[in-house]
Amino acid sequence: MATRDILVIPDKRLRLVSEPVKTIDKDIRALVDDMLETMYAAPGIGLAAIQIGVPKRVVTMDLAKKDEPKQPRVFINPEVMFASEEKSAYEEGCLSIPEYYEEVERPLSVKVKYLDLDGKEHVIEATGLLATCLQHEIDHTNGVLFIDHISKLKRDMVIKKFKKAAKRGEPVKPLSEDEKPSHHIG
Ligand code: NI
Repeated sequence: MATRDILVIPDKRLRLVSEPVKTIDKDIRALVDDMLETMYAAPGIGLAAIQIGVPKRVVTMDLAKKDEPKQPRVFINPEVMFASEEKSAYEEGCLSIPEYYEEVERPLSVKVKYLDLDGKEHVIEATGLLATCLQHEIDHTNGVLFIDHISKLKRDMVIKKFKKAAKRGEPVKPLSEDEKPSHHIG
């Protein structure tokens, strides 16, 4: 297991459409191990493989609260089969867009099909944070970022800020503790 570097915008690889996993072999298991370790170290509650530069449709997640035991989840080839018309808004963040949080409106509930690490197919109906996180991570597998769901004005400002930081070769300035929301998405 190893912690891997997380890609940050404007890295173009974050815009790739990831390939479905054909065979769940030892390479995929090793990838999942690295993703979980990287996600916990960040820390984040979700991670898509492309965020560590691997364009495969693999997502890891753990929505357990700090005082709860770890609940690692793995979604291989996750796919939204149904999304409710009813929407909900949640303040999202992304490990690939650090120190930026914005409210995003998405379907309140979704039905998602995926494979587990044994290749068994599951369908789950998710609502609340799980629904938001699944949609955020599945977006990553399609090269979509949460800032694509906010206004163009706000999105352009964020992208400009990260382009400038990349040019300087420095990370963007961290938010002060009181500006940080208590939750993070991956
Ligand atoms: Ni993200």
